[in-house]
Amino acid sequence: MTQDEAKRAAAEAALKYLVPGEVLGVGTGSTVNFFIDALAARKRDIRGAVSSSNASSERLQKLGIPVLDLNDAGTLSIYVDGADEANAQLQLIKGGGAALTREKIVAAASRQFICIADESKLVEVLGKFPLPVEVIPMARSYVARELVQLGGQPKWREGVVTDNGNVILDVSGLQIFDPLQLEEQIGLLTGVVSVGLFARRAADVLLLGAASGVRELKAGSSR
Ligand code: 5RP
Repeated sequence: MTQDEAKRAAAEAALKYLVPGEVLGVGTGSTVNFFIDALAARKRDIRGAVSSSNASSERLQKLGIPVLDLNDAGTLSIYVDGADEANAQLQLIKGGGAALTREKIVAAASRQFICIADESKLVEVLGKFPLPVEVIPMARSYVARELVQLGGQPKWREGVVTDNGNVILDVSGLQIFDPLQLEEQIGLLTGVVSVGLFARRAADVLLLGAASGVRELKAGSSR
């Protein structure tokens, strides 16, 4: 099974969590693209989608799925999104596609967060994937120095401007044994818009595509 086949299998497995007649949240990335494509066949069952990026909004609209403003949608039934890394507690690193801030907002506004990924994303300790941090442009160097103090090696993702007009620092060299604490610590740095650690709002369900089928990890059972 290729990595794309595993992503597609996880994405299709998320359809069973759809709540008929409600609005859902849709994230960003290649795994979510498979989900959006599969969602097209079920578009009559839902009221519409709130999206975490311009790229996903365009894909949803092209397939005839109504895209709503979060401010008009109220609490969302589910949020479906991928991850760059996940641990057994369903805490995540996200933001490889630079959409982390809107992803965090949509996840926070959803009753259930369904994370979809291929099995290579499951790790023992988060941090091998460089941790994305969205930063106000004028604070870039200041925040980078602070991240060095925290033991990381930040690298500016040059040429990338987020949908919110900000920049991304990718922080490598971290072994994140306490994701909740690091999320809070980095989030409090002046100039940081958001950090790509999803520990405070971890996933509720993790669907991992693999050759043997789709493995389902749930927050209660794996914690
Ligand atoms: C985008 C994200 C994505 O969910 C993450 O990068 C995973 O992407 P992919 O599904 O392409 O592996 O956080 O900001």
